[in-house]
Amino acid sequence: MFFTELARQKALEVQWNGVAQELKENIAEEMGLGTQGVSHYMLLAQGLEEALGVPVKNTTPSITTSKLLRTVQSVFNQQPAYVLGATYAIEATSIPELSLIVQLIKWLLEGAMPKDLQYFFNKHLNQWELEHEEGLRTTIAAYIQPEQFREFEAGFLAIMDAMEIWWQELAQEAISSKVTLGMAIAKKH
Ligand SMILES: [Fe+2]
Ligand SMILES: [Fe+2]
Repeated sequence: MFFTELARQKALEVQWNGVAQELKENIAEEMGLGTQGVSHYMLLAQGLEEALGVPVKNTTPSITTSKLLRTVQSVFNQQPAYVLGATYAIEATSIPELSLIVQLIKWLLEGAMPKDLQYFFNKHLNQWELEHEEGLRTTIAAYIQPEQFREFEAGFLAIMDAMEIWWQELAQEAISSKVTLGMAIAKKH
């Protein structure tokens, strides 16, 4: 199940209905409401497959990515303010994260991106993710009580820590797979 859906259910548990509504709209958008029924996942996966010629849809998560997913799963089993702090962390970091990915793709392509992929990133960077961050921040602010600030913060930081470790380990995985690949190529010759 989507983590956003888990967060929506947590918001409903404590009757933070405005937050639940905001998350419901985000899920609908994610599933393709504004993109002719094509989900954002599909847009990105297809775009990357076309642009880079790599099998994105049939790739299983690496060890560190599996670990991240398990950590996020456990974070989303906590109480509502904690879970919404975690959800806010994901939205609040999406623009710097996507910007980094755009740089990486441009570097790999050595030039311009295919039109559909460019559209995916343009819409996320200039509209959708800005709306998600603002929408979540303002709706949560309408419900959260001072005694819940610590829980919210703890959930926020749990995700930040998990993502920090993930990016570090992704770099290590990339370096070691490059070394393995290099050795395999060297053996062939
Ligand atoms: Fe999206
Ligand atoms: Fe988002």
